[in-house]
Amino acid sequence: YSNQGDPSCDLPLPKGSMGLPFVGETLAFATQGADFSRIRHELYGDVYKTHILGRPTVRVRGAANVRKILHGENTLVTTVWPHSIREVLGIQNLAMNSGDEHRFRKRIVMKAFNHDAMEEYLESTQTVIRDTVARWCGQRQPVLVYPATREMTFQSATASLVGVRSGGEEAQRVTELFQNMVDNLFSLPIKIPFGGLAKALQYRQSIDEWLEGHIKIKQQDIDNGDVGTDALSRMMLAAHDVGHHLSSQEIQDTAVELLFAGHETTSSAATSLIMHLALQPQVVQKVQEELEKHGLLQPDQPLSLEQVGRLTYVGQVVKEVLRLSPPIGGGFRRALKTFELDGFQIPEGWTVTYSIRDTHKSTDTVSSPERFDPDRWAADSDGGRRGRHDYIPFGGGPRACVGKEFAKLTMKLLCVELVRACRWELADGKVPAMTTIPVPRPVNGLPVRFTPCE
Ligand code: HEM
Repeated sequence: YSNQGDPSCDLPLPKGSMGLPFVGETLAFATQGADFSRIRHELYGDVYKTHILGRPTVRVRGAANVRKILHGENTLVTTVWPHSIREVLGIQNLAMNSGDEHRFRKRIVMKAFNHDAMEEYLESTQTVIRDTVARWCGQRQPVLVYPATREMTFQSATASLVGVRSGGEEAQRVTELFQNMVDNLFSLPIKIPFGGLAKALQYRQSIDEWLEGHIKIKQQDIDNGDVGTDALSRMMLAAHDVGHHLSSQEIQDTAVELLFAGHETTSSAATSLIMHLALQPQVVQKVQEELEKHGLLQPDQPLSLEQVGRLTYVGQVVKEVLRLSPPIGGGFRRALKTFELDGFQIPEGWTVTYSIRDTHKSTDTVSSPERFDPDRWAADSDGGRRGRHDYIPFGGGPRACVGKEFAKLTMKLLCVELVRACRWELADGKVPAMTTIPVPRPVNGLPVRFTPCE
């Protein structure tokens, strides 16, 4: 046993229940949603043990504990993914790799998300959002916001990441392929004929064929010294510049990973933004005042990155949406060796999950954590002075989200375009019931009535 003699092996295991033989607490985990973890943290503290999805598991919340997990990547823990996800998303990407391989790939991918890239993506993102908001405002019937934002974020992602013109036939076709792939992946991911996994793999194959065409053209452009401005071209050039030739499979796996990681998360966040603001007219009023102050209230006005950056209140609204309704509830890791955490023993081989949602909602982090209050992030308020790991919607450490600036930009643009163009209210008039699988969203899809301003 590799950890013999290690003092952490003498520590007690975290408190908690391993549930029934074989199934553990998987059923409760699958049915209780966010309550599963909340209840157990209340009972057992910041670190508890359970048995879910066939594995002994430790769930962790709180800045210091989360920090140890996030920065213990490659030494204490490593990433784990279910087999079905690996099969559909592929393995030549960021999430499925670790150590030096992961570091190398990440350096290349990050080139597609630097400041220069954001300047470039802003225009196409703003166009997609503005057109979408105009459509919503022109509709007499309530709009089902979750599916509508799902389509919007995917169209803006394919425009910025692959360079596909939004709103066209190609964008429409790929949106459908991708959504079918994801829906099947989350339905019944076992490989039986006509089962979810088999269908998801078929859709993945069609997406690969579509990507291959784009990759060939981008490669020719790079060879001719005429590089595109989309994320894939930027990545391919970054690899070329360090003398590494990315294979077609590597580019396809990375493209699918970026679309997958960015799509459901951003649409969950966009839906939450619309929901929270529908319930908080005073926040909409303050956004309007900020836009007025900066002379940006006019619909159709293009925005620069610098102008968006100056909208501090809009930034606080987005930050608060991601605190109260984080699209990813937490991350999964596997313990590489037995180690100490918060005075407990975390045994080698156990699954370790760090909780974003419960860390954000812990009262040690913020006062009245259930209240939506963008003012808590004002420079002179306590939110702005909290530690870095109290607020972790995008994770942290070596596996921090690569698309976080793009996601925040999308949310800020959505907030601005909505407040400029319309007012909106929940069609049902009441706070909807939520589900958290695969991402937090209202069960009813959030029907919303939009009314144009004047
Ligand atoms: C990783 C959140 C949008 C690409 C992560 C992680 C979180 C996260 C928490 C770390 C997971 C872990 O520790 O296991 C979010 C949220 C988003 C968002 C809340 C939207 C509001 C995006 C977008 C993209 C993206 C738009 C790409 C265009 C990725 C990738 C990783 C990642 C590739 C894996 C990084 C690695 O393994 O090194 N994201 N994300 N995400 N995200 Fe995001």
